[in-house]
Amino acid sequence: CGSGGSSSGGGGGGGGSITMGFSQVGAESGWRTANTKSVQDSAKSAGITLKFSDAQQKQENQIKAIRSYIQQKVDVIAFSPVVESGWDTVLKEAKDAKIPVILTDRAVDSKDTSLYKTFLGSDFVEEGKKAGQWLVNEYKDAKDPVNIVELQGTTGSAPANDRKSGFQEVIGADPKFKIIASQTGDFTRAKGKEVMEAFLKSNPDIDVLYAHNDDMGLGAIEAIEGAGKVPGKDIKIITVDAVKDGMQALADGKINFIVECSPLLGPQLMDLAKKVVKGEQVPTRVVTEETTFTQEQAKQVLSSRQY
Ligand code: AHR
Repeated sequence: CGSGGSSSGGGGGGGGSITMGFSQVGAESGWRTANTKSVQDSAKSAGITLKFSDAQQKQENQIKAIRSYIQQKVDVIAFSPVVESGWDTVLKEAKDAKIPVILTDRAVDSKDTSLYKTFLGSDFVEEGKKAGQWLVNEYKDAKDPVNIVELQGTTGSAPANDRKSGFQEVIGADPKFKIIASQTGDFTRAKGKEVMEAFLKSNPDIDVLYAHNDDMGLGAIEAIEGAGKVPGKDIKIITVDAVKDGMQALADGKINFIVECSPLLGPQLMDLAKKVVKGEQVPTRVVTEETTFTQEQAKQVLSSRQY
C-alpha cells in the first residue's frame, strides 16, 4: 500500500490505496456500536481499506493492535484510547515508522503532541458542564440540599475524567449540590444497574442521578424501578450520549435530560485520514458539534434518530 494516495478527499473511489488500522475501545455501549458502524461504513464509501480490532476495553489489547498495524505497515493508524495515560511508547514507535496517527473520540494525555496528527471528537468537559447547567437551573429555587449520585465512565478514560470535572465545576458554585456517592459503572448497562442498586441500599435519600452515559443510566433505571421508586420523578436522571434507547427513556419521562455525544465520527475521520496520508496540514483538534435534549425535544426527534 502506497503512502501517496492520489485521491482527493471527497469520499467514494480513488482512495483505494489507503489502508487504515483502527483500534476500537470495545462494544461496551450503544454509542460504541454506532461509532463502530460509522467508521466501517465510512471507510467503505471513502474507498479506504479498514483493518479493525476490538480491544474489549483493555489498553494492552490496543497497544498490541497498534504494534501489529505498525508491523503491517498500514498507511494510517486511528484509535479511540480506552484510557488517557500510557501511550507515549507505542505512539513513538508509530512515529519512528513514519505512520501518522489520528486520535478519534478520546484523547491521550501525552505531553508530546507530535505523536499524533489530530484529535477528532467531542468536548467532554463541555458535556459535563451542560449536564451541570441543567441541574442548576432545575433546582434554582430549591433551598434544601440536593443529593446527587454519579455513575462514572471507565476509570481513567477521557470522558469519565472530563464529564466529572465539567459537571463539578458548574454545580460546585452552589454548596446545596452534594455528590453523596460516585463510582464507576464502566459505561455498561449491567454495571450501571449493579452500582445503582448499591447506591440505593446505602443512600435512602437520592434526588438526582448523573450517569456519564445512557447505557449506565438505563441500567440504573432498572435498579430504581426494582427498588419501588419512579425514575424521572422520585429520582431525576441526567445522562450523556442520546442513543435511541436513551432518547426513548427520555421521551417516556424516565430520564429528565440528555447531553448529546455524537458517535458519527466516521466521515470526518476518513477525510482527515486522506489528508494526513497525503502529508497535508490538518487542524490539531476537530471538535464534534452537539446539542442537548429535554423530554419534549426527545418526543419530537425520536423517530428521526440515526442511532
Ligand atoms: O468515549 C465516548 C463514550 O464511550 C460514550 O459516551 C460512551 O457511551 C462510550 O462507551
